[in-house]
Amino acid sequence: MHATALAHSNIALVKYWGKRDRALNLPVAGSLSLTLGGLATTTTVHFRPELESDLVSLDGRELRPGSVAHRRIADFLDLVRNDAGITSFAEVETANNFPTAAGLASSASGFAALALAATHAAGQQLTDAQLSVLARRGSGSAARSIFGGFAEMSAGTRADGRDAHARALAGPEHWDLRCVVAVTTQGEKDVSSTEGMTRTQETSPLFEPWARTVDADIAQARHAVETRDFALLGRVAERSCLGMHASAMAADPGVIYWNPTTIEVIHRVRRARRDGLQIFFTIDAGPHVKVFCPARELSALRSVLSQIDGVNDLIVARPGQGAHLLES
Ligand code: PMV
Repeated sequence: MHATALAHSNIALVKYWGKRDRALNLPVAGSLSLTLGGLATTTTVHFRPELESDLVSLDGRELRPGSVAHRRIADFLDLVRNDAGITSFAEVETANNFPTAAGLASSASGFAALALAATHAAGQQLTDAQLSVLARRGSGSAARSIFGGFAEMSAGTRADGRDAHARALAGPEHWDLRCVVAVTTQGEKDVSSTEGMTRTQETSPLFEPWARTVDADIAQARHAVETRDFALLGRVAERSCLGMHASAMAADPGVIYWNPTTIEVIHRVRRARRDGLQIFFTIDAGPHVKVFCPARELSALRSVLSQIDGVNDLIVARPGQGAHLLES
């Protein structure tokens, strides 16, 4: 009863921010993303009757039972056990091929890989939509990493969340884009996305107005993807990102994910665009900036970003595959 799966991270171009149900992790609105080849999590799950608790190792280090990270994974395994009707604990080995410590989102690739490996190890064969529903329980953005290329997440309308899952919009070969992650100096202690969303939803006067823009942004972004309209996709992505962060900053107390380098990168990207480079940026619940360009502009983009003080590292990703099983 074991299986190994690989899933890639993804970056939202129309952001998910806010939950309509916290227990089931249901989003207030949809979102749209690109799965990032190169930023991968590989996870092996082995259900073993002799274990007395779940044994989890992350990048070779064992997670302490009772720690937040261990509990999140054990709770997720409980969902799989309940569904499959098994009681064994599991040994889980998970590893990221990108620096977890750099604060890059690993929950999307992590829970997508765990959903696929754990269900297979439990003897289940789920459809992609069912896997996406399951991955969503671990992390909202993980629902999108089940699919390769561009994916669109639906908020769904059902109370049980069975229609709140992602679907594929266009495969990784559809559009030869690059996404360069500008890893900026770490700022203050991070606010988790769940904490940031909750505070924004509960206290920010800008949350509702922003949430009302999401459906129209998704429709435009979908059209931009279908027609490979880079300028349109960039316009939608930047306003979705800035609107999401504006709503978070207007919470009480304000949630600020950016550091000075984050803002410097935003300005440099806009200046380079005025100078003729085809690029746009987006930022998640952290200080790093993800900058998109058509593949042919990659070296020009790298040289813009590498000249910025405070940018510590550049990680280049291309459109990636959906979650899949590996021979173990
Ligand atoms: O999947 P979560 O709960 O870590 O939330 C992701 C939130 C953002 O990354 C900011 C936006 C998104 O859609 O991925």
